[in-house]
Amino acid sequence: RTAPAVIVAIDGPAGTGKSSTSKAVAAQLGLSYLDTGAQYRAITWWMVNNGIDIADPTAVAAVAGKPEIVSGTDPKAPTISVDGTDVSGPIRSPEVSSKVSAVSAVPEVRARITELQRSLAASAENGMVVEGRDIGTTVLPDADLKIFLTASPEARAARRNGELKGADLHATREALIKRDAADSSRKTSPLAKADDAVEVDTTDLTLQQVIECVVTLVEEKRAGK
Ligand code: DC
Repeated sequence: RTAPAVIVAIDGPAGTGKSSTSKAVAAQLGLSYLDTGAQYRAITWWMVNNGIDIADPTAVAAVAGKPEIVSGTDPKAPTISVDGTDVSGPIRSPEVSSKVSAVSAVPEVRARITELQRSLAASAENGMVVEGRDIGTTVLPDADLKIFLTASPEARAARRNGELKGADLHATREALIKRDAADSSRKTSPLAKADDAVEVDTTDLTLQQVIECVVTLVEEKRAGK
């Protein structure tokens, strides 16, 4: 018999290894994968491209429903497109990174993206690993397993720097801290650990150790289901 569908929520700040962990866990367990940060980045990319004033929440809210955002949920080849254009590359630009917190703080943007996330999770046959900031608290409060990843700011900046070739470590650290503060302090569904989430501090763990830890937690959940 096949295992029942399992929904895993993985939340935490930037640079904790959320994406690498989530993709690997999903691939290993045959689950779908959703990068919700990519969705917020994609809508931000569209706003920047269409000359929307990011600093004006009313202007952002007015067009929140316009772009068509499609996420490919294969953990081995995740994709994200806006109005039919693949934006996997451009959504990682420093410009989008510096503007995404403001866009994602707008309630109309969150309502729209949250709806997309719920419908994707509901249609994933074997289940899904969903990574973000508010998955366990708001998007999927009934998730079978909730993980909250943390790491020291130094470790997070160093990891992010490894991804952004040639970036300045100090600047990366400052940008990360600024984005986390904005994401944690916004009014609508801020970055937060759900009461029933398992917290994993990844500062002194290798990626492989974090993956193994999460896979074990999912298997335990499945066994007890
Ligand atoms: O995971 P990431 O760094 O690519 O996310 C980019 C931004 O998107 C993050 O700074 C805040 C926002 N975000 C959010 O508000 N809610 C989520 N569930 C995921 C991301």
